[in-house]
Amino acid sequence: MRIVLFGCPGAGKGTQAEFIEKRYEIPQVSTGDMLRAAIQAGDEIGQKASALMKAGQLVPDGIMIDLVKARIARPDCERGFLLDGFPRTSAQAVALRENQVTIDALIEIVVPDDRIISRMSGRRVHLASGRSYHIKYNPPKREGLDDITGEPLVQREDDREETVRHRLDVYQEHSAPVIRYYEQWFAQSPEAAPRVMKVDGLGTPEEVRERIFKALGEV
Ligand code: AP5
Repeated sequence: MRIVLFGCPGAGKGTQAEFIEKRYEIPQVSTGDMLRAAIQAGDEIGQKASALMKAGQLVPDGIMIDLVKARIARPDCERGFLLDGFPRTSAQAVALRENQVTIDALIEIVVPDDRIISRMSGRRVHLASGRSYHIKYNPPKREGLDDITGEPLVQREDDREETVRHRLDVYQEHSAPVIRYYEQWFAQSPEAAPRVMKVDGLGTPEEVRERIFKALGEV
């Protein structure tokens, strides 16, 4: 199965990706995690991405397309993959199509903007793995520590309220059109285009998970 997980910042993509990864036995390809790893490593991509991410801006399409092309060519993606955070511009969606990367389904997790701010202010992440928690809605077993490794959790630099608001604006301008692109393509040729399925992202993570599994069961 080749799946795209879509939704605004904080919609719960990373949280749901963990469930989908296990259920379908496919790797999560999170472009945000890949960029954060590049920043940690201090490599060329990390140096280019660092200031943009801190400001809540998108990293240039060319960099992102090359990164994802290389990642999904690796052997663990042969049976499928879960794209989390890509494509998030129309140019990235076009690049997937031009490279004949077929996608079975695009799941859009829908959460209103006013719920996003509280989710983000309470988010804590384990940077090495990308696992994310929420101090109230999805707490780790031991406060401030990752469930699997026991390592400390941190707050992401781009989770400050004003940066989150800017990320939501960037999402509306650059990412929302990706849905329209896929819907138009599906209307023209349903046998080739991925199905866009909208899932309500409110409720507990487990409730959202069940909605996503139900939608994927129809593909
Ligand atoms: P990225 O890391 O992809 O961030 P994002 O898309 O903005 O999404 P987030 O990771 O912030 O949120 P999420 O939807 O995964 O939510 P989560 O599950 O953590 O990208 C970061 C940056 O990298 C971008 O701004 C850009 O600069 C760059 N970038 C990445 N990809 C790019 C691309 N393709 N092109 C260009 N630039 C790119 O949940 C959020 C919080 O809510 C957590 O605390 C969680 O525990 C909690 N939560 C989850 N579900 C629920 C629930 N049901 N109820 C209550 N709380 C919940």
